[in-house]
This record gives sequence, C-alpha cells and structure tokens, in this order.
Amino acid sequence: PYVVAQPCVDVKDKACVDECPVDCIYEGDRSLYINPNECVDCGACEPVCPTEAIFYEDDLPEEWAWYKDAAANFFAEVGDFGGASAHGPIGKDPAQVAALPPQNQ
Ligand code: F3S
Ligand code: F3S
Repeated sequence: PYVVAQPCVDVKDKACVDECPVDCIYEGDRSLYINPNECVDCGACEPVCPTEAIFYEDDLPEEWAWYKDAAANFFAEVGDFGGASAHGPIGKDPAQVAALPPQNQ
C-alpha cells in the first residue's frame, strides 16, 4: 500500500482524499492515514499531494519508514471502516505521530 508520511502532519491538505477510488484515506487529528488493508495501490493520491507526503511503502525515505508500521498498527487498533467519507474523522493519531512536536509550521 501507499503511506502518508511526515509532510502531511499539521498540514492536512486533503487533495488526496478526492482522488482515492476506494475512499481509504482517513482523517486523524494531525494527519491523514491510508488504511493499508483497503488501499488497492492505484497510486492516484501520490501525485496530487502538494507537500509530497505520499509514498509507495517501499519508496519511503528511511527517516519516515516508521509511518508504514504506524498506519498499520493504527488501523489494527481502530478497525477497518470500509469508507472514509461515510465514517468521518477518526479524531486521533498513532501514538508516534501524536507525540511529535509541531511539524511543517
Ligand atoms: Fe496530507 Fe497531502 Fe493528503 S498534505 S491530506 S497527504 S494531499
Ligand atoms: Fe487510494 Fe492512494 Fe491507495 S488513491 S487506493 S490510497 S494508492
């Protein structure tokens, strides 16, 4: 799957959301998160992000590689909702993201 990394944190442009054919990009508190169980690897989200926050999992810069596990663990915790627009914002973040100082200010 694709992964949203650090450049989204405290930015949340959301251009990506409208591109996803399976509606699997969910809004957390400080960032958006792609559900890896629902992403079909279409790649439509990646080029539209103005901050270049989205990467295919194998292409994540090393310092942001942990965002892949953070997203996987997050959805293991909150569940798979089968559609972000119907569910609405999740209202929280993975612990590692929640602990970050303000980003991209
Ligand atoms: Fe974030 Fe980029 Fe989407 S900033 S909300 S990943 S368009
Ligand atoms: Fe959607 Fe992006 Fe995956 S558009 S299907 S989250 S690659």
